Amino acid sequence: MVSIADILKGRHTGESVELRGWIYRTRTVGGKAFVVVRDATGIIQVTIARDAVRPEAFKAVEKALIESAVIVRGKVVEDKRAPGGYEVRAEDVKVVHFAEKYPIQEDQSEEFLLDVRHLWVRSQRMTTIFRIRHTAFGAVHQYFRDQGFWEVSPPMLTPAGSEGGATLFEVEYFGRKAYLTQSWQLYAEALVLAMEKIYYVGPSFRAEKSRTTRHLTEYWHAEMEQAWAGMDDVIKHAEGVISHACQRVAEERPDEVVALGRTTDFLKAVKPPFERITYDEALKLLKAKGIDLEWGKDLRTVEERALTEGKSKPIVVTHYPRISQAFYKARDPKHPDRVLGFDVIGGDGVGEIVGGSERETDLETIKKALVEQGEDPKAYEWYLDSRRYGSVQHAGFGMGMERLIQWICKLGHIRDAVPFPRTPGRFSP
Ligand code: 4AD
Ligand code: MG
Repeated sequence: MVSIADILKGRHTGESVELRGWIYRTRTVGGKAFVVVRDATGIIQVTIARDAVRPEAFKAVEKALIESAVIVRGKVVEDKRAPGGYEVRAEDVKVVHFAEKYPIQEDQSEEFLLDVRHLWVRSQRMTTIFRIRHTAFGAVHQYFRDQGFWEVSPPMLTPAGSEGGATLFEVEYFGRKAYLTQSWQLYAEALVLAMEKIYYVGPSFRAEKSRTTRHLTEYWHAEMEQAWAGMDDVIKHAEGVISHACQRVAEERPDEVVALGRTTDFLKAVKPPFERITYDEALKLLKAKGIDLEWGKDLRTVEERALTEGKSKPIVVTHYPRISQAFYKARDPKHPDRVLGFDVIGGDGVGEIVGGSERETDLETIKKALVEQGEDPKAYEWYLDSRRYGSVQHAGFGMGMERLIQWICKLGHIRDAVPFPRTPGRFSP
């Protein structure tokens, strides 16, 4: 048993091998069948000559439609004319399952492909992205573990949100109201006083009605929190983890990177430090480009695009105005109308990849911020204990894994960064 990727790397040339997979394309010309077979790692052409295999085997191959499952035994030969430069000359073939007529053909609409997502996940484009996703997830875990962070697990069903009521998904919980988690925020701030350096990678939910190319209602969130640390300390980790993911992907998935339209050199150059500007500096830069944004307003897609135009690394924007920022963000002691908060912004229309901040440690200030944002501090009593018993400086951030993957792979839409995307318009298949 060998993988197609290994054959294409020239590791089995001249050998007789067995491979298992599915028919990707097939045509018969005269006494020869040219069957392109796919497995989890790639596609390869298998040439089956009528007189080289059992007569029943050839008949079966002639009959087999796209996506039929096959086991092929044959010799690997280098052949410049074959796609990928190698082909397998079959000695025996077995059709394990004859597929019905496959509903996906060329040039089908995006909507139809989303309807049959359970089949479209078999496409070369999707499996290429999944392999990069695998590497990026591994890199995030590796980075935080190497840096001495403990992996801890927050709950997904929660009694209160942390990122504003507008995007909370409500769940009926035995006659009471519960919410799907938006972020591990409140739990991180409890656990960080126990474990000091913590991280987690898991799902977050946002009842986000906006239909954009960068919003999902369910996404994977890589979050970290660190005690005895401020904003600058965690910005370094944001740069570090993004860079590490880019290095691992460039190193381990060069073919996938190129197939999706990036270069490995582009990813290898994503090294710290990233360019850093304050929110006020961002407004000035935007003004120079003819974009007027009122002070206090959040950066939108247009502004994020303008700021990252022509940049090959993400940029960091710091010191956002306090209005409209989450209650737990620390006020900047020098400018109380700003927070010690930051975003890491990627180009190509992806925008905010990371959002983070130093956290407010003062009990009364946090209570006031909760009230200002229309929340009932009573619902946060347990959380406020983190400011009653040994409150220390701490900071953290959250990174949208699909945003990171969208940026690394230069995807036009975030939905392709995840196998089964959840968007306002659909939650099936
Ligand atoms: O900026 P956000 O809302 O920050 C938080 O949730 C903090 N509590 C994180 C923390 O400090 N632990 O979300 C963090 C990141 C964003 O930068 C973005 O990458 C991603 O989560 N994100 C989404 N990704 C896809 N679809 C959505 N609807 C997203 N909303 C946020
Ligand atoms: Mg944010």
